Amino acid sequence: MTGITVRRALARDARSMAELHARRIDEGFLPTLGTAFLARLYGRVVRTRTAAAFVAVDAEGTTVGFAAACADLGSLYRRFAVRDGAIAALQAAPRIARSWRRVLETMRYPQHADGLPPAEILAVAVGERAAGRGVGRALVDACVRDLARSGVTGVKVTAGSHNGAARALYEGCGFHEATRVHVHDGVESSVYVRDCVARGPAPLLHSVELGR
Ligand SMILES: CC(C)(COP(=O)(O)OP(=O)(O)OC[C@H]1O[C@@H](n2cnc3c(N)ncnc32)[C@H](O)[C@@H]1OP(=O)(O)O)[C@@H](O)C(=O)NCCC(=O)NCCS
Repeated sequence: MTGITVRRALARDARSMAELHARRIDEGFLPTLGTAFLARLYGRVVRTRTAAAFVAVDAEGTTVGFAAACADLGSLYRRFAVRDGAIAALQAAPRIARSWRRVLETMRYPQHADGLPPAEILAVAVGERAAGRGVGRALVDACVRDLARSGVTGVKVTAGSHNGAARALYEGCGFHEATRVHVHDGVESSVYVRDCVARGPAPLLHSVELGR
């Protein structure tokens, strides 16, 4: 039996999270900004008190999945812009210039999502070889428990309405579809929400069984 461990992400995990994001997530414009930009963003997530990330690591120490969440996406983006904006913008400058409209759409999205909880699961990705074995679910559960422990009462997540794996994951984790939005180029996305219930301290480490 091969064990996969889910643990809180550290700054040194930012690069592998960025690489998984770039390889596995084709929704939104973030992957188009490049791995260096994503690594800086996830570096900021793990350093921000109101945000959190978890990684799933296999027995060889390879990162096979990650999830990131924050209590308020707007304030995370503002913090990122102030602390990392200049370097991140330089790293992604040609790509930002090409997709400036999508950058603005994404920055505005939290403000026009009226009535939805400000807390958000930013991204979840599991590598091809570890997919379908409960790793995504363990990562989402870890994020929800962490948000609940910090006093968050509700959380949302957005996924392409066509993304069957993501829909199954979020519905299986207790989310329900609250609304549909068209964020980029008219592509439809579903916004899922669920309550967060604090149930005592979350374990920082736990194992997920592969090959069920
Ligand atoms: C979405 C994703 C994270 C799921 O991770 P995973 O580890 O394979 O998911 P799990 O094994 O924990 O499965 C969770 C549920 O989703 C279902 N599921 C997983 N992959 C599925 C697929 N391809 N099609 C249909 N259902 C699927 C499982 O059967 C399970 O359902 P259950 O709760 O009823 O048992 C993974 O497919 C992935 O990385 N996709 C690419 C990135 C992405 O789209 N991320 C989400 C948007 S940011």
